[in-house]
Amino acid sequence: MKVSIVGTGYVGLTTGACLAYLGHSVTCIDADSAKVAELKAGRAPFHEPFLNELLADAQRNLTFTTDYAAAIPQSQVIFIAVGTPTGVNGAPDLKYLESAARSIGQCLAGDFTVVVNKSTVPIGSGNWVESLVREAYEKHAAEKHAGEKHAGRKAEDVFAIASNPEFLREGSAIFDTLYPDRVVVGTDQQRTREVLYSLYRPLLEQDFRAPVYLARPASMGAVPLISTDIASAELIKYAANAFLALKISYINEIGQLAEKVGADIEQVAKGIGLDARIGRRFLQAGVGWGGSCFGKDTAALISTASEYGLDSPIVKAARAVNARQRERVVEKLLDELKILKGRTIGILGLAFKPDTDDLRESPALDIARKLIERGARVRAHDPVAMERFRKENPDLKVTCCESAEEAARGCDAVVLMTEWVEYRELDWEAIRPTMRTPVVLDGRNHLDRARLVTAEYRYLGLAG
Ligand code: UGA
Repeated sequence: MKVSIVGTGYVGLTTGACLAYLGHSVTCIDADSAKVAELKAGRAPFHEPFLNELLADAQRNLTFTTDYAAAIPQSQVIFIAVGTPTGVNGAPDLKYLESAARSIGQCLAGDFTVVVNKSTVPIGSGNWVESLVREAYEKHAAEKHAGEKHAGRKAEDVFAIASNPEFLREGSAIFDTLYPDRVVVGTDQQRTREVLYSLYRPLLEQDFRAPVYLARPASMGAVPLISTDIASAELIKYAANAFLALKISYINEIGQLAEKVGADIEQVAKGIGLDARIGRRFLQAGVGWGGSCFGKDTAALISTASEYGLDSPIVKAARAVNARQRERVVEKLLDELKILKGRTIGILGLAFKPDTDDLRESPALDIARKLIERGARVRAHDPVAMERFRKENPDLKVTCCESAEEAARGCDAVVLMTEWVEYRELDWEAIRPTMRTPVVLDGRNHLDRARLVTAEYRYLGLAG
């Protein structure tokens, strides 16, 4: 099928590359011409495992452009995958969505096109996007057919809207897209459902050839397609992200108690997670969630609920616990070092999670800021996010280091903020004598505690 994708961020580009890999003919549209030039040269604009490989594999089915008119008229399916950052009062800012919808409407000319919203949008946005596309289409058709008897084809014969929320995680975006737990499609029309079923058929039936670098999991069967109305699909997205966020905050709340009573939070998480009703995943205790999704989507859910006069005490509590975890890092360092002014703290890991260079809402940046405010000097290292960090945070007075060893040198304490595998495997024994005082705060419960204690570190966890 012929597909266009508006927006080449994590969601748009991953979706485009995967659909092209599955055999569809995909055009990715982005307003940023520098980004489009990079993509044309075969380079992904961000770090995501296997994305460059997939772009190379899917190359013959993929094109990139800044020009809507070059792609939209031929498309059978158009995905909107633009950013919806937090705006006023927690509600998402929908300016990119609005502009994409209008540009699509102006260019629609095919037989029948399904416009699919993949951006995370407030409940009810499906109708709004529909009206924007319709308005732009009708205005353009009226201008084109001015003076003629017929004003062109009716909007409802030309396009329909669907919601198809995305559940991929950064760092495992390709895996999550090729091997999803479910696909959710929200639409009120059978015709639209059928178009999207045809598009996703290879994914749903899992009969495509798996990439050599990303094998299909042995347990993988057919993927369930959840077919809903538009509002339900939109709510599924928010409810899923908020639930995952509160699962993390729950384990962090229990972690605080574990610390007081001398229990091991890792064992507790395993012990409760093996109950199939609870599930093992997203029970990793630590400094809490960061990234562009959980903070934004929990805020949006609370904001939407309040528009209907509803409070969201559980989601609010999840956010409060998450903010508290960051404070606890500073408090723990203060307890240990007594004075932060003039101390040097090394931060290992700047990205909000491993396998990405994304720094949005990263706990590491927040903690670096808090430490600097208290007069500490901060040295930092990340295996892939240093360049982006320098570019995006010119005002944050952090010494950027080429290696973890260099970041730890001369420090009064080292704080692990992102659980990169290589940090666990560092030569901690060799690092110890280079530090001023051998204090390690493991913000992700990721390091080998026994090994560090044997190497005569003072090991501090965030829980248990
Ligand atoms: C999240 C959801 O997991 C995806 O399903 C969703 O599609 C995406 O948001 C989105 O809405 O676009 P993402 O933010 O990329 O994905 O990454 P996650 O793997 O969910 O991690 C989020 C944060 O939670 C990270 O800072 C991670 O370190 C933290 N986390 C995760 C924990 O602290 N503990 C855990 O057990 C799991």
